[in-house]
Amino acid sequence: MNQTAKNAGLALMRQHALIAGEPIPANGSGIAVDDPATGEVIGHVPDLGAAETDAAIQAAAEAFPDWSRGDPHRRAAFLRRWAALIDDNVEGLGALMALENGKPFEEAKGEVTYANGFIKWFAGEAERLIGETQDSPLGHLLLTYREAVGPCALITPWNFPAAMLTRKLGPAFAAGCTAVVKPASQTPFTAIALAELAYQAGLPVGALSIVTGEASVIGKVLTDSPLIRKLSFTGSTGVGRKLAEQCAPTLKRVSMELGGAAPLIVFADADLDLAVAETIKGKFRNSGQTCVCPNRVYVERSVAEAYAEKLAAEVAKIKVGAAFEEGVKVGPLIEDKAIEKVEKHVTAVRADGGRVLTGGSRHELGGRFFQPTVTLGGDDALFREEETFGPMIPVFAFDTETEALDKANASEFGLASYLFTRDLDRAMRFSRRIEAGMCGVNTGLISTAVAPFGGVKQSGYGREGSIHGIDEYVDVKTVTLALR
Ligand code: SIN
Repeated sequence: MNQTAKNAGLALMRQHALIAGEPIPANGSGIAVDDPATGEVIGHVPDLGAAETDAAIQAAAEAFPDWSRGDPHRRAAFLRRWAALIDDNVEGLGALMALENGKPFEEAKGEVTYANGFIKWFAGEAERLIGETQDSPLGHLLLTYREAVGPCALITPWNFPAAMLTRKLGPAFAAGCTAVVKPASQTPFTAIALAELAYQAGLPVGALSIVTGEASVIGKVLTDSPLIRKLSFTGSTGVGRKLAEQCAPTLKRVSMELGGAAPLIVFADADLDLAVAETIKGKFRNSGQTCVCPNRVYVERSVAEAYAEKLAAEVAKIKVGAAFEEGVKVGPLIEDKAIEKVEKHVTAVRADGGRVLTGGSRHELGGRFFQPTVTLGGDDALFREEETFGPMIPVFAFDTETEALDKANASEFGLASYLFTRDLDRAMRFSRRIEAGMCGVNTGLISTAVAPFGGVKQSGYGREGSIHGIDEYVDVKTVTLALR
């Protein structure tokens, strides 16, 4: 075990929430956060409620006028200072994240760099908050300004404790918004550490609060408040739908990054070794717990057996273990019920006549570890509508391109999708027809700060990252100038 790294993580761990820059300590009680590898409690954050959430909202509202009306170059400079501090703390932040989330330490450090990419990118976007001038047919001159929407509520998930925070805070701060963040109770420490660094980088007091506690209580206060003008949520479709309903009476701007059930399609003309390698890269990020993980793999029948055998042979080599062990690629799942879901999905494939080619059971390490699993055959219906959110790849055969497209689109979700083929025409045609916000062609990795990220159908709306991400945090104001 890498004790030095672990200590660097613990050194950044603050057992408090942050309301308007002021720490509210847990004092050893409140919400216990555990290491998913062992189930041991690593620390606590306070269980805050309506009063503290209200105080955070008030602080965000008070900080908003100065922050939003100020020079955007000041906000860009702040974002760059924050990014520099994060760069200085990649080891510690990665270790802290590995401790509370369980993802392998190397991967956690990679997430810190990915997360920081959003801050760096949006520092540039702050400098490009460009409006337009236009002649109106009424003989007037039109000026448009892109103005911050207001104080924002940002609700972030446990699977990417750093990147989902910065993907929201980067554009929010660039636009001039202030924010109240509710991080997932399983992984609050990374968010708190990042917020501490933001204040060290010179963020004005009140511009950011991190409120820990019961999600439904805090979520209700945030969504009910007329002072909060925008909600951005990453999480399940069910919770997203409820939050969107709660935002309706105050007509907040809302963006939702929800569930996935991503299809991955392999045609017979594809480079099978590449398809196997990229399937593994896409699937086993965060031990299969991402919204963009391939959830169901469709392979043209003539190569289905060959692809599945190759895939199973590679997957069988994957090292499973705790975050700080050398060479580990798949860690524990976040909680016990996550293991039960993977088991349920393996059982469903078996019951439908499919075969388990590798894995298929809880790992000998016990606890929340599951064997990396590949299955072949059975019915794909369950996988169209339910994310496994664990280290399992179900492979199904198809016969025609139309059948593959129909299967891929036969889901209420439409977040990520993947396609492997050497035929350029097919790649163009298929990627246009697939009902998904994102399509990776001959790659299993599609996420970067510069690519628009988001879904269609029940996967939500709004785009994060890229040149579009800041639009979620600005309103366009039109000034009509009558020139006499
Ligand atoms: C997610 O799973 O919600 C995000 C994944 C990513 O950013 O690639």
